Amino acid sequence: MLKLSGRIALVTGAARGIGAAIARALVSEGADVIVTDIDIEAGRATADAMGAVFARLDVSSEANWAAIQEEFPALDVLVNNAGITGLEGSFDGPPPAHDPENALLADWQAVHAVNLDGTFLGCRYAIRAMRAKGSGSIINISSRSGLVGIPMAAAYASSKAAVRNHTKSVALYCASQGLNIRCNSIHPAAIMTPMWEPILGNGPDRADREAAMVADTPMRRFGEPEEVAAIAVLLASDDAAYMTGSELNVDGGILAGSAATPGG
Ligand SMILES: NC(=O)c1ccc[n+]([C@@H]2O[C@H](COP(=O)([O-])OP(=O)(O)OC[C@H]3O[C@@H](n4cnc5c(N)ncnc54)[C@H](O)[C@@H]3O)[C@@H](O)[C@H]2O)c1
Repeated sequence: MLKLSGRIALVTGAARGIGAAIARALVSEGADVIVTDIDIEAGRATADAMGAVFARLDVSSEANWAAIQEEFPALDVLVNNAGITGLEGSFDGPPPAHDPENALLADWQAVHAVNLDGTFLGCRYAIRAMRAKGSGSIINISSRSGLVGIPMAAAYASSKAAVRNHTKSVALYCASQGLNIRCNSIHPAAIMTPMWEPILGNGPDRADREAAMVADTPMRRFGEPEEVAAIAVLLASDDAAYMTGSELNVDGGILAGSAATPGG
């Protein structure tokens, strides 16, 4: 018996990486999935490969969400996955400053527009689309960076912390409305996806950078997108019927403690 038969699920930023893996996992559990992304070509190819439909959606655009609401007025599962670090596009040049001293306001706002505004707009659409049935599951992809500070990616960390908190506001709001609409956040870290390319670079020190990341991870390896997708399926399904406002870390143990030794 498939866990999500007959459920309609929409995943944002699902052309590649974690979003694509989540969409695939939802399809394999019987859901009718809508793959969305700003990358039309890759999004279409990803959707076609899994037998899902594709719709273009820039999550930071209120007008785009209104069009989605029109086209897909009913929904059972929303995964707010689309996210940017702000370091994209820096593959061939120096990355823009994202530390608290030097970051430009426009760069700070651009990251929040996608990660935070996009999640707010997605949650608003989902509550409205799920209200008729009175049930549903909203899954917000935050990050371990939503739980700790990241000095060189301050806007990313700030936006992900806000996503974590908004998840709880949505969960409490829906419960107070007598709706069985659950809202939970997932906090991945070090998952090997194209998001890492600008950070790891393609220079001679790539292997060293990769090794350094893994050295800081208690499980000593990068995670796979499918390992995040499995948790999204759990939260989407009735197996998580009594979970709302909760946060699940998928991080190889990074957040479990500190590398500091006693007295160190
Ligand atoms: N990879 C990791 O280690 C990691 C760790 C923590 C959290 N996350 C989070 O997981 C989510 C997915 O990350 P990923 O590693 O798969 O990233 P990725 O860069 O590989 O994929 C992100 C996708 O989002 C799309 N996108 C970008 N801006 C968009 C917009 N405005 N509207 C719609 N789609 C947009 C991109 O086209 C791309 O397909 C993000 O929210 C990210 O912050 C990832």
